[in-house]
Amino acid sequence: MKFDFTYYNPTKIYFGKNSLENLSGELANYGKNVLLMYGKGSVKKSGLYDKVVDILKGADKNVVELSGIKSNPSYSQLKEGARLVRENDVDLILAVGGGSVIDCAKGISVSAYCEGDPWERYWVNFEDVNNKIVPVASVLTMAGTGSEMNGGSVITNEEKTLKNGRVFPSNVNPKFSILNPEYTYTVPKYQMASGIFDTMSHLCEQYFSGDDDNTTDYILEGVMRSLINSAKTAMKDSENYEARSNIMWCAAIGLNTVTGLSKEQDWEVHMIEHQIGAYTDCAHGAGLAVVSVPYYMYIAKYGIDKFVRFAKNVWGINTDGMTKEQAAESGIGALAEFIKMLELPVSLRELGVTEDMLPKIANSTVPGGGYKKMSADDILNVLKECF
Ligand code: NZQ
Ligand code: ZN
Repeated sequence: MKFDFTYYNPTKIYFGKNSLENLSGELANYGKNVLLMYGKGSVKKSGLYDKVVDILKGADKNVVELSGIKSNPSYSQLKEGARLVRENDVDLILAVGGGSVIDCAKGISVSAYCEGDPWERYWVNFEDVNNKIVPVASVLTMAGTGSEMNGGSVITNEEKTLKNGRVFPSNVNPKFSILNPEYTYTVPKYQMASGIFDTMSHLCEQYFSGDDDNTTDYILEGVMRSLINSAKTAMKDSENYEARSNIMWCAAIGLNTVTGLSKEQDWEVHMIEHQIGAYTDCAHGAGLAVVSVPYYMYIAKYGIDKFVRFAKNVWGINTDGMTKEQAAESGIGALAEFIKMLELPVSLRELGVTEDMLPKIANSTVPGGGYKKMSADDILNVLKECF
């Protein structure tokens, strides 16, 4: 490991079948007014909404609700939530849902008492937050983003056709998150696969950088292997508790910053997907699945040794007798097979991208990258490969 780092993650995790039992005890640590946030209705169908509301009533809380948070949460919903927080003097924002609900909750947390336009200040200029931050907590219903244990908040500004993300300091992390793998059983297969690939992509984005001997790379390889193994089981048997719990924990640790320590990291696949999402509103993990293979084929020669290591240590490929290029390709090929196994899309057309969007997506994507610094032209080349 060669880069200095500070590690601190204040999110308390309650994990397992009985984890919701901890909610009432946690609620005692906060004031009376709670903003309860959820998505478009899955929590009502599953019965989780009723359970949470009963616990809130039992804890004698005044509950204000913000429902209908959409996948790829919008800035207009964030502003609505910020208004509710101010008007009701909210003491705790409780997000019950997937990454979209939790990301929106964090966005509301930092925006409610922000002077000026939070979008410009926090998601465009990445300013530090000096105003009051309202505590956030979560009950997770879908595994993938890792939002339950980090300070990330990805918001779509529909008026500007921009999906911008940022990581806030750890005081914006959920104070506690309740992770019951059984709550993920009702996630539709496509969304489950999308979440699994989102986690895989987080691990890859952190893995593909650097050439030092870094403990973090070994951790990443281990988490990837666990995720791949459990993904295969969950695709066949969606109520396999062991597989769903492994997937849920892989997702949380996959982006709780421990898997990025002392790493430069890449994140260009995410930057490209965010703009695909801004134009098509596609499922985040599905967009990542389309971009990943062409992107890694494009950059592999700039970090060839790591791609060889990926083939050997993550996919268990015997690369004896192969050239480095062949070995690297075999690993990326195994990633493509994994995407196929997850039944995710492999072309931008399947996501609703039209040809005229390609230059717009390329030019609005934040250029970055790990082994190769990407220009707008490079991004356009990758997009053409996966169109
Ligand atoms: O809205 P409801 O009805 O709840 O349905 C949701 C939604 O349609 C459904 N769902 C969730 N849990 C369910 C369920 N359906 C049945 N049973 C359940 N238990 O699944 C759909 C997708 O939910 P969503 O929250 O949008 O998915 P995800 O967790 O993948 O979050 C995606 C958002 O997170 C951002 C993405 O860009 C995207 O905006 N990300 C956040 C990150 C972070 N905070 O660190 C990092 C990621 O890279 C990502 O960018
Ligand atoms: Zn992601």
